[in-house]
Formats: sequence, structure tokens, C-alpha cells
Amino acid sequence: MEIIIADSYEQMGVQAATIIRQQLLRKPNSVLGLATGSTPIGTYKELIRLHREEGLDFSQATTFNLDEYLGLPPSHEQSYRYFMDEHLFNHVNIPKGKIHVPYGHAESVLEFCEWYENEITHAGGIDIQILGIGGDGHIAFNEPGSSLGSRTRLKTLTEQTIQDNARFFTSMEEVPKFAITMGVGTILEAKKIILIANGAAKAEIMAEAIEGPITSQVTASALQLHRDVVVIVDKEAGAKLKRADYYRWILEQKKKLVPKLIGYAS
Ligand code: PGA
Repeated sequence: MEIIIADSYEQMGVQAATIIRQQLLRKPNSVLGLATGSTPIGTYKELIRLHREEGLDFSQATTFNLDEYLGLPPSHEQSYRYFMDEHLFNHVNIPKGKIHVPYGHAESVLEFCEWYENEITHAGGIDIQILGIGGDGHIAFNEPGSSLGSRTRLKTLTEQTIQDNARFFTSMEEVPKFAITMGVGTILEAKKIILIANGAAKAEIMAEAIEGPITSQVTASALQLHRDVVVIVDKEAGAKLKRADYYRWILEQKKKLVPKLIGYAS
């Protein structure tokens, strides 16, 4: 794992976007795995800036989002499809037909999940997957106890996740209790993964995910098994990493060797 402790939320977003930019420049028809939540908004903001000001081209890209609430149609303001339209899709040139967000209103969830997995395979697999982390250590909606080999499926959300999400809804009854989510196994098949986290509320769980044991109780810890993960945290989310000085030292050394290869905005 490469662990980058960024100075700020904005810097975290710029660094994550820089890695995605490098991917698109290397392979314009990249398959991008996308995430929702407050964490990636800065990354998307920077991608939009790169598109508008520097001509970053998404016209050959394909995208797959991690998850969607069960029961929310794409037009619902709290649906993840709506979020993605607002924060990225409406502002860059990804062809609409190449955008995939799990469909929360699928008639048969089982069939939909199988179709989604097949679509990822047909697209050639995900080249680069962006991930946030939940307060309970989830990646996508793989709540504690999710099999580390799980695939796209219906998941019951934990009390903590429901509470975390409540701020976006007017009443507790409205907060979805289920979601369609890529599995941990699906995520681990992405060729490259960027995990981003910001804020003090994520410090404890980031230390568990990165430096703790690999366990289905903290599904983000499964990323320790992946060969190409970049973790980008702001100072607050990185505050409880025991080996923070070592991670900084590694980056200093790498910068001397390969300044252009480690996702730093020059
Ligand atoms: P957040 O959510 O980015 O809003 O903190 C992250 C997640 O639950 O995966």
C-alpha cells in the first residue's frame, strides 16, 4: 500500500484526481469505479476542473458505481445516481450509455446483481476504483461481517450507517435500510484502488483498516490483500496511523526516484 498523508481535504482530492488523470491519459478507454459520499466530492471537483481547463477527456471512459440504495429511483435527490449526476456526470463528457450505477428500483435484485457483475466483466474489469470508508469500516456498503469474497448483492445496512445517512433525509423512516452494493470480492478485482478518507471521525477506523488485522469486521482491511492500493488521507484522518512517519519517509524517498509516478500534483 502506498499511503499519502495530504495537507488538506482539497489536496487529497487533487492527488486522487491526478492519479485518475494519469490513468485516463495512459488508457483513454479506462473503466472507472466510482464512489459516492462526502469524501470524493473534492476529487470530482478537481476532475471537472481538469476537464474544463485542461481538456481531460472522458469520451472513451466507462464507469461503474459501487452502490445504490434499494428503493430509490434515479430521480430521487438522495439516490446515488442523482448524486453522481450532480457532482460529476453532468459536468464531464462520459457518454451516458457508458455510465453504470446500480439500479435501486430493479424488479429482480438478484438478476440485476448478476447482470451488473457481467457488465463489469464485459467492460474488461475496473481499471481504477475510487473508495471512501464508512465509520464502521465498510467499503461500498460491505458492512461488518460481509464475506471478503462477496459479489454484487443486496445488503442490509447497519444501525451506524443508517444513522450516518440520516442527515440527508427528513425523517428516520425515509432513510433506506438496504442497498445494492458491489462485493468485497468485486472490488478486489479492480486493477488499481484509491482509498480516500478525511476528517477526525475517520482516524480510528483508518488505522484499523490499514494497520489492523484483515477481518470481515472491517471490510476495508481486505484492501491489504490487493497489490496496488493508494491510500490518501488528510492529516486528521491520518492522525492515528502508528507508522505515519514511515509512510512520509517512503514518499520522500520515492519522490527522489520517480517523481512523476506516485500521484503527486507537480
Ligand atoms: P462519506 O461516506 O464519504 O460520506 O464519509 C463514506 C462511506 O460511507 O463509504
